[in-house]
Amino acid sequence: MVSPPRRIALMGAGLIGREHAQLLSRTPDTELVAIADPAETAKSVAEAHGARYFADFQTMLDDMRPDGVIIALPNVLHADAAIACVERGIPCLVEKPVADTLQAAIRIVEASERQSVSVLVGHQRRHSPDIAKAREMITTGALGRLVAVNAMWMADKPATYFDAAWRRQSGGGPLLINLIHDIDCLRFICGEIEEVMAFTSNAVRGFEVEDTASIGIRFASGALGTLLMSDTAVSPYNWDTAAGQALYFPHQPENAYFFSGTRAALALPMMDLWQHETEGGHWQEPLVKRHVTLDGSRAYENQLAHFLDVIAGRTKPLVSARDAMMTLAAIEAIARSARERRPVRP
Ligand SMILES: NC(=O)c1ccc[n+]([C@@H]2O[C@H](COP(=O)([O-])OP(=O)(O)OC[C@H]3O[C@@H](n4cnc5c(N)ncnc54)[C@H](O)[C@@H]3O)[C@@H](O)[C@H]2O)c1
Repeated sequence: MVSPPRRIALMGAGLIGREHAQLLSRTPDTELVAIADPAETAKSVAEAHGARYFADFQTMLDDMRPDGVIIALPNVLHADAAIACVERGIPCLVEKPVADTLQAAIRIVEASERQSVSVLVGHQRRHSPDIAKAREMITTGALGRLVAVNAMWMADKPATYFDAAWRRQSGGGPLLINLIHDIDCLRFICGEIEEVMAFTSNAVRGFEVEDTASIGIRFASGALGTLLMSDTAVSPYNWDTAAGQALYFPHQPENAYFFSGTRAALALPMMDLWQHETEGGHWQEPLVKRHVTLDGSRAYENQLAHFLDVIAGRTKPLVSARDAMMTLAAIEAIARSARERRPVRP
């Protein structure tokens, strides 16, 4: 028996919303049935996809009763939008960060768990096989005991990116927009973060928000980590361009995450595995590099396939609202640590 296509509605037809719309349009067994966005430009996006247009997302939910909803709204609207879906029993995929504040994130978690309606959060990198493989290797001890982690997200955003005032103000900076993906990956791969110590700087751009940060991390496992972040430095060391998974960046193969254990070292996304030739080898003996070959290019496609499984009740969200709330808590701890110049536990 052929099942009818999943009827998906989209809230927000901005930068990432339009990417979701295109992805839905080229995915078999899904239909983009409606778009809600008060912006004039959203009408033509809806028209181009043969979807109904609404200015208001509550009206869209009531009129269309979709099977699932993708929420690509400004962060401050995530909680109201996700809860509107949950209250109607409709599973949603809400873009990251799960919400703009921890309090708002808790509202989503409580609603989703009380009503038993799934909320998947758009930390798409977790759906990439390289991140999944790294988690498997580290949790099964392929590197021995994990000792240290070094990760970088550094890139040079153009000046026009900051034309939107919110990107220059508190909450619109690269900690919450970009580094949150790396923090989410590190939590997924290495386990919970117990404590952070951070410095931030706005010395180059001079905006209210940070443009650069250096962060020390202690994981619950005892492993230590360092992170470097900047959105004003020319650099190939960021997951978005290094992994070739991003929707609107060039692919420049490089490594951005480095994991070191007592038996081996692993660098991602190139999946370089460094080990001694012989058991019991040490620093005066050569290391051999192997590649673990994977197709890591389909994070967004895999995320959508997973969301369709969540809608069908075949699986639970890989990134639940509660899980993403912990990632947000770690980012808030980093910001607080920099502000108060002291170690902070998320
Ligand atoms: N996972 C990723 O790779 C990724 C990438 C970019 C953005 N994001 C996230 O996606 C979200 C949206 O980011 P963006 O860059 O697309 O922002 P954007 O500003 O480009 O788009 C937001 C859209 O929401 C619309 N909107 C505002 N109020 C609305 C309302 N009440 N009802 C319906 N629509 C409304 C706006 O008109 C706009 O079109 C953010 O949470 C962001 O963090 C995720």
